[in-house]
Amino acid sequence: MEAAEVLFSGFFYINMFNSELYKQHLKTSNFDNIKYFDELDSTNSKALELSKSNIANGTVVITDHQTAGRGRQSKKWFSLPGKSLTFSVILFPDCSIDQINRYSIVAGLAVSDSLNELNILTQLKWPNDILIDGKKVGGILCESKIQNNYIKTLVIGIGININEERTDFPSELQLSSTSLFIELGKAQDREQFLASVINNLEVRLNQFTSFNDQIEDWQNRCVHLNKVTKFNYNNKVIKGRFMELTESGEAKILIDGKVQVFNSGEVVKP
Ligand code: BTN
Repeated sequence: MEAAEVLFSGFFYINMFNSELYKQHLKTSNFDNIKYFDELDSTNSKALELSKSNIANGTVVITDHQTAGRGRQSKKWFSLPGKSLTFSVILFPDCSIDQINRYSIVAGLAVSDSLNELNILTQLKWPNDILIDGKKVGGILCESKIQNNYIKTLVIGIGININEERTDFPSELQLSSTSLFIELGKAQDREQFLASVINNLEVRLNQFTSFNDQIEDWQNRCVHLNKVTKFNYNNKVIKGRFMELTESGEAKILIDGKVQVFNSGEVVKP
């Protein structure tokens, strides 16, 4: 089935996301409950709202037009109707809060795996920015509901630039962002790429117990491993050498000769 071009919001034509096509490329039945909305403020907000109802573990919430996408550190997330992928996966892990950074790490790895399958070499920036040649192609925002130190609900929100041309990005993002279209020189099927990310996410989630392999994969792709980097923590910028991931996926950074472990914050673009 071809992706349909539809008149959107009465103003412009976009390629509407086709949920059936996504399911055709999916190798698992654990993530085939997909909730499509033509417009949403944020797929993470909708996913958190839906998680209060009786909804299946693994439900994917997706929109063609995200009007108030949230990034980490209270930043806005830019996306373009019909060209970007903006989606959230709802999980009910019911596991200790100590595991939370592991989810963030495997989500970044899953997106990176899918890009590698298209022969695009990716780099990762802690906790889970996905870069190509230093330019951002995707970002991840995990949000959770915690009870008694257990992760009851986890929403993994993922934004990936798919078919944007350079001039589609706002001027302040043009030098620091890229898309699959820019890298490969031709339009990509968003449904197929989403299915690929979800297929890889499932594989990575199933390997949660052998986390050392995932740490090794992540560190091999990390753009700032063993480098002096700037680190944004609690609205302060700290400078230090990024040493490694802990076994829980936290950042181990050497600051003024002292090793410190962070479970939040982010490495500022190196
Ligand atoms: C970042 O790099 O700052 C994280 C960006 C996360 C963006 C995605 S798009 C889908 C989901 N819904 C949101 O509001 N944010 C995430």
